[in-house]
Amino acid sequence: MFSQDMVVLGSPGVIFELLDRRSANSSDRKQTPSIPLMGHDTTFGLMSAGQTWKNHRRAFWQQFNPTAVTKYYAMQREMAYMLVGMMFKEPTELEKNLQDSIAAMLVRTLFGFDAQDRNDRVLKLVWDCIEGTRELLISGGFLMDFFPILRFAPSFVPFQRKLARWRTINEHFKDELFAQYKAELKTQERDAYPCMVGEVIASLTDGSGSEHMLASAEHIAKSITLDVVNAGTDTTTSILQTIFFAMSLYPSVQAKAHAELDAVVGPDRLPDFSDRESLVYLDAIIKETMRWMPSTPLGLTHCTREDDIVNGHFIPAGTVLLGNIWACLHDPAVYDDPETFRPERFLRDGRLDPDARDPGELSFGFGRRICPGRHFGLAAVYINVASALHVFDFSPPVDVHGREIRIEPRMVSGFVSRAEDARCTVKPRSQCAKLIRGPGRS
Ligand code: HEM
Repeated sequence: MFSQDMVVLGSPGVIFELLDRRSANSSDRKQTPSIPLMGHDTTFGLMSAGQTWKNHRRAFWQQFNPTAVTKYYAMQREMAYMLVGMMFKEPTELEKNLQDSIAAMLVRTLFGFDAQDRNDRVLKLVWDCIEGTRELLISGGFLMDFFPILRFAPSFVPFQRKLARWRTINEHFKDELFAQYKAELKTQERDAYPCMVGEVIASLTDGSGSEHMLASAEHIAKSITLDVVNAGTDTTTSILQTIFFAMSLYPSVQAKAHAELDAVVGPDRLPDFSDRESLVYLDAIIKETMRWMPSTPLGLTHCTREDDIVNGHFIPAGTVLLGNIWACLHDPAVYDDPETFRPERFLRDGRLDPDARDPGELSFGFGRRICPGRHFGLAAVYINVASALHVFDFSPPVDVHGREIRIEPRMVSGFVSRAEDARCTVKPRSQCAKLIRGPGRS
């Protein structure tokens, strides 16, 4: 692409070879002029793979590894039950409610604030941050990244103005919310749940430490907040939206999910994390969604540090590598009839089939850069889908005459993808409607 070497890896074999097994050489990220200009120079997901990246990633992982994420379960469950209430109150606003609910869950995870009010400016700030990142992560989004001389263009040129606006938004997000968090600490107006910023600072200072240690811990905690909203909001929302859309297109799949929920959870309560192991069909639905319409179809670009040779091909240092996750998950030799949504492909004798390739091996990226938020993200997907499916029925949208509108499943382009049109009708299931709480029933 212009003068930049770029390789698209099209099969799991070569992806795992280059991005997993040779991860020491392939875990860098290309540093482009737009990253710092946009205020992302402390976002570790976009950093070069050096010591600072390691420190930030380690601090992040301490809060989001499989054991640590369980401390957020109670909060995730509460937010999922609230989403059910919002969906009941505004059944035609599914997309907006999903976006707001996931953004609010992440803000609460980070700072312990309740940002659920949809007019809350905190949620607006989150989505403004994401809008900038979406543009940054589309390869070729900024011509300046291929022609670095353009970074000296005057500040009134439109792309410079755009970058400056997003830098201000990103800085606002980090500084303002962190200041609010600190102010609330003093007044003891704290949420009952643990929050990541506090936990990171405590773990890096060990509760004591010098001013310098505290400043460094606060800097890391603050920087990570931008990673979480940018990497976690769109991806998680996309999966949820696609699942509900798939349910509206495939009523027989939905009927099986309802039957499983009725048998495991029953009509007198909402699902919980303790049901997760038993909801095998639901698990297969989540896997099939990630295969059918992967939320990150090309992953995030990696970059090589040194020259390498793979399968006889010379790959120079500084080459940008893209894993074509979508192609691997739609390979008919691995997934029969790949355009059809069929969770059964992951099941055998009523259990998950260990021989079926789990899309999770590809969808969360690779090697040292593999998504460190995946356990938290999958927990959020599980509790939201289980709760909403337990109480609602999803069907195709209808026109003004009440006729069903058939929507063709098509994905939008972008780093994070989703269904182009995911409209559906949301109706309470009679046997579980009494479980709906929150804004719609208070
Ligand atoms: C549930 C849906 C999610 C999907 C499909 C997903 C997917 C990905 C992918 C493909 C990457 C790039 C990995 C690579 O470079 O090879 C990534 C990186 C990352 N993700 Fe996720 N993600 C999800 C949720 C989350 C959540 C909820 C968080 C935060 C809590 C998160 C935080 C991150 C971070 C910080 C990185 C950058 C890691 C690094 O560069 O070292 N992700 N994710």
